[in-house]
Amino acid sequence: METQFSSRIKNLRRSVVRDILSFHSSNDMISFAGGLPGKEALPVEAMRKAADRVFEREGIRALQYGTTEGYNPLREWIADYLCSEGIPTGPDNILITGGSQQALDLIGRLFLNPGDQVAVTLPTYNGAIQSFELSEASLICTESDNDGPLPNEIRRAILQGAKFIYLTPTVANPSGRSISEKRRSEISEIIRTSGIPLIEDDPYSLLMFSDHSFRKMTSYMDGETILLGSFSKIVAPALRIGYIRAPENIISRMVPVKQAMDLHTSLVSQIILFEYLSHENLSKHISDAKASYRIKRDLILSELSAKLPQLKTDIPDGGVFLWGRWGSPINSSELLYLATEEGVAFVPGSSFYPDGGDNFIRINYSAPDLNRIPEGVDRLVKAYNRYHSLL
Ligand SMILES: Cc1ncc(COP(=O)(O)O)c(C=O)c1O
Repeated sequence: METQFSSRIKNLRRSVVRDILSFHSSNDMISFAGGLPGKEALPVEAMRKAADRVFEREGIRALQYGTTEGYNPLREWIADYLCSEGIPTGPDNILITGGSQQALDLIGRLFLNPGDQVAVTLPTYNGAIQSFELSEASLICTESDNDGPLPNEIRRAILQGAKFIYLTPTVANPSGRSISEKRRSEISEIIRTSGIPLIEDDPYSLLMFSDHSFRKMTSYMDGETILLGSFSKIVAPALRIGYIRAPENIISRMVPVKQAMDLHTSLVSQIILFEYLSHENLSKHISDAKASYRIKRDLILSELSAKLPQLKTDIPDGGVFLWGRWGSPINSSELLYLATEEGVAFVPGSSFYPDGGDNFIRINYSAPDLNRIPEGVDRLVKAYNRYHSLL
């Protein structure tokens, strides 16, 4: 008997990298592929102490079911942080999610019907494309310049009927680019007057290298957006803790949706995270991580420019990714196949576009050990040379 799957999953894309790595994975693989924090940035000891204190003090509570909205002290901590960013927020504006990936899924379930359209800029986070595709939505792709999405393109998307606009305004994944302050203000005004929701996905703004920081678009829009935050890149992805900050009427519509999905985010993770945040110096932890990532970014940039000048990259001011464009047309998915044979991985640009994008690649520099970066670039060069010799 042929198994009948839902129409929703018919066109759902698989992760190219996961597929290829499952064939070629070895311990010796140098991966520039995932968006993982570096080992040095994972607070193992501090988290162990936090977990010990939680289990000594309130183990029974930590192992129970919790509320769908999330652990209140953590919601309050997040609300205080957002207030300090100029966004008036109370705990009732916060819903704790299983990473911001779950927030994207929740938003899709809350707002999207099959055939609806979502406005994005390209390249855009592959997990967002995957999530919107699962909701059977199509994408309206808006053009950008160096300042960010063009105001007229945002107007066009609204006129074309976009259900909402999804942006990662600060050190975006994969491009590493940020929307300028002037453009934030311009497009916020356009979106605000249109009345359609803005989804501001913001997992990287605390990982900016320079002293410069951007105002969140949510602060330009008096909190009338859906803002997504995550502890994955600044503390640890395995906690699976992210959050949605939104007006209370939206949070209260999201709660039953999340209930149907998973009842609530792991309470033990939330309590341990809160214990960690209450006892440790998060700013110091983040600035140590950034110092290390900056050294890794500089090393990979200098290695690439010396050994692989055919790959043109910007210099990202933070985050964990480099976005590269080949000087001449290359099929990066085919190159990835050769690269994994050489023992190095990256993500082909096509993962970040609904169509095309194969002339780009995304390189993660936070995860590999610093001393492995030169070898990783050498392997990439070997794959590049083999690709050309096979043409
Ligand atoms: C832009 C963006 N949004 C959301 C996520 C999902 O992160 P998490 O679910 O770990 O919070 C990621 C992860 O890489 C991301 O880059």
